[in-house]
Amino acid sequence: EAEAEFLGSTCSSPLTHGSAAPGDPFWLQNIQHQGIAAFNGNPGGYPVFRNVKNYGAKGDGNTDDTAAIQAAINAGGRCGQGCDSTTTQPALVYFPPGTYKVSSPLVVLYQTQLIGDAKNLPTLLAAPNFSGIALIDADPYLAGGAQYYVNQNNFFRSVRNFVIDLRQVSGSATGIHWQVSQATSLINIVFQMSTAAGNQHQGIFMENGSGGFLGDLVFNGGNIGATFGNQQFTVRNLTFNNANTAINAIWNWGWTFQRITINNCQVGFDLTQGGTSNTGAQGVGAEAIIDAVVTNTQTFVRWSGASSGHLQGSLVLNNIQLTNVPVAVGVKGGPTVLAGGTTTINSWAQGNVYHGTNGNPTFTQGNIANINRPGVLLDSTGRIVSKSHPQYTGYAPSDFVSVRSQGAKGDGHTDDTQAIKNVFAKYAGCKIIFFDAGTYIVTDTIQIPAGTQIVGEVWSVIMGTGSKFTDYNNPQPVIQVGAPGSSGVVEITDMIFTTRGPAAGAIIVEWNVHDPSGQQAAAGAWDTHLIIGGTAQSGLQVGQCPTSGAGGNNCFADFLGLHLTSGSSAYLEGMWVWLADHDLDSGGSQQISLWSNGGIMSESQGPVWLIGTASEHHINYQYFLKNAANHYIGLAQTETPYFQPNPNPPAPFITNSNFDPSQLGQGDAWAMTVQNSHGILVFGAGFYSFFSAYNTGCQSPQNCQNQIVNVDSSSDIAFYSLTTVDTTWQFSVNAQGVINRSNNPNGFADTITAWTRN
Ligand SMILES: *[C@@H]1O[C@H](CO)[C@@H](O)[C@H](O)[C@H]1NC(C)=O
Ligand SMILES: *[C@@H]1O[C@H](CO)[C@@H](O)[C@H](O)[C@H]1NC(C)=O
Ligand SMILES: *[C@@H]1O[C@H](CO)[C@@H](O)[C@H](O)[C@H]1NC(C)=O
Repeated sequence: EAEAEFLGSTCSSPLTHGSAAPGDPFWLQNIQHQGIAAFNGNPGGYPVFRNVKNYGAKGDGNTDDTAAIQAAINAGGRCGQGCDSTTTQPALVYFPPGTYKVSSPLVVLYQTQLIGDAKNLPTLLAAPNFSGIALIDADPYLAGGAQYYVNQNNFFRSVRNFVIDLRQVSGSATGIHWQVSQATSLINIVFQMSTAAGNQHQGIFMENGSGGFLGDLVFNGGNIGATFGNQQFTVRNLTFNNANTAINAIWNWGWTFQRITINNCQVGFDLTQGGTSNTGAQGVGAEAIIDAVVTNTQTFVRWSGASSGHLQGSLVLNNIQLTNVPVAVGVKGGPTVLAGGTTTINSWAQGNVYHGTNGNPTFTQGNIANINRPGVLLDSTGRIVSKSHPQYTGYAPSDFVSVRSQGAKGDGHTDDTQAIKNVFAKYAGCKIIFFDAGTYIVTDTIQIPAGTQIVGEVWSVIMGTGSKFTDYNNPQPVIQVGAPGSSGVVEITDMIFTTRGPAAGAIIVEWNVHDPSGQQAAAGAWDTHLIIGGTAQSGLQVGQCPTSGAGGNNCFADFLGLHLTSGSSAYLEGMWVWLADHDLDSGGSQQISLWSNGGIMSESQGPVWLIGTASEHHINYQYFLKNAANHYIGLAQTETPYFQPNPNPPAPFITNSNFDPSQLGQGDAWAMTVQNSHGILVFGAGFYSFFSAYNTGCQSPQNCQNQIVNVDSSSDIAFYSLTTVDTTWQFSVNAQGVINRSNNPNGFADTITAWTRN
């Protein structure tokens, strides 16, 4: 019997363990299903939750369930071919335990989660005659190469808790075609594939997109475990057993791989080499691999060609344990670059290495100074802490309380402030709080006390609006996670926090809570996003806020997305802080102009783990670390506003000394700016600038932005695998450009393999 967790709650009978019996189904199956799509044309008739068995799926291992499962996904009028995007048609498609035979691809439409019983994973079994790109397809191809969705805008998808079994297919077969972007995840999936010589199975095929997070996946057998091509991604805890090639990387600008395990494969990472020109073939730009364990594998990392004297593919290795791995890094059909054996690689890099204010690169293919990993970021095995999206498998429906059953409406117009406050006052720490799908309007700060566990349903929305949130000289939190100085468990999953504009004085989430002593990563959020504007009924759509700027003050969307205060700690995995650049609900991805001062600001003393976070289009900064300490950040992804440099940051806001960096970006938004901070490890970053005044003409001279990352001289911080796009000075110290992109071309983007202070 595990010791009861200290939840840190003040409730009278704290929830210390779940009450589900071992034979009970996963709580999600039998909890009351009363989620709604608030802004759907027919909210009363539109089903959010769908159990595939209610649509005729048998799960008996014999019946072909393809059509029945697709009917469950499609019911109610969904966003499929030609739709582009929506926020009004969410669907949670649930699979009880069983074996579901599938003979052609299941299309996961926009804004869909496929979730299996997490206690007893359902199997999706490829029929012997399976035909199609993959069992699960997130972006189908049409004749002529067109697709359902634009790959870079393919948001809001999650697949969890399945076994995907390809073994009955004698020819080629793929488990998941995952061509997706932000706010997407794959979690807790086992791929069963052939181990016969010459088999043509692969677990995942991904060839485009702008992701994203995936983690807790196991690949058994196969010719290729996963083919990965996407601008950027964060990957945590993947295990590959008995594949020919574990990971086949075809192109990227930058990926971070945390805690990968590879057993009995031929090749761990097979990396396609690209060109160094902006327009040439794009290969693998940058891989950052931390805390990998590799056993009985011929080659850990293999490039398709040599890289010497100039950058052609950046690689950073940190804490890689090899057991019987003859080649650590090699070239296909060519020389060994780094010999393996049974050994641990501490810190090794291929690419351009920089120090301090010296803008001259040292091309390195060898050991680099040991990467500094503050101890508070590490678990008992010495690796960066890893904590999976909580799913509460031991809990019964009676351990949850529904906010709708307690009087909140979630209908997108009722003010639910008091109802939600009452739920937290009565149940925080006593029950897991279930936000049935819906949009909950609040007009005052909602405090989530330490000791609270919150579960949403296909991203339930809390939307702050009203006079409380309009004054940017006195910004107020919509959501306050923990009172200042509090400690305890906080777990938030599958939620969206946002505003209805105008809301110039909203801090959407103020995060104050700290892990209790001895409980690393107890305070965290998973698959939880800040989606600001661009959604139905946000008041911040193309009708109100066109790119002409005609919306004026009505287009203040928020002041700050996420504020990690000085007393907090946080484990945030899969979080997108998106100030919308386009409208998701008016067709055709029409661009909009919204104002937000900042994305993520941290003053936390740590530990903070930002695993697969992104922050986009905020005027002044995407990430601002101020007096912060002990952060692991990997991978961080940003884009600057498309209207930049007009207005000139911080306009249209007026500088607010508490929330703004002392060194402004002089016409540019900072992707990341760091002030008086220490113990900061950035392990993978993709910082992009594609526009100047909505014009992409700057992409050819590659000067859409002048500066993008800033570090002051008092900060102890290190960057590894830092990729930028179309920015002249990739790295600045005290707001003076130090590293010019001209030294670091790496295909479409430019990469600094390492920058350290000394
Ligand atoms: C596979 O076979 C089943 C019957 O065994 C049939 O219903 C189905 O249409 C076939 N699928 C394909 C893609 O040929
Ligand atoms: C998608 O990926 C393929 C293969 O890497 C590439 O040739 C193609 O240009 C990509 N398409 C887009 C729209 O990015
Ligand atoms: C890694 O993923 C596997 C499979 O889901 C899971 O059993 C294991 O607990 C995970 N480990 C960590 C450290 O997250």
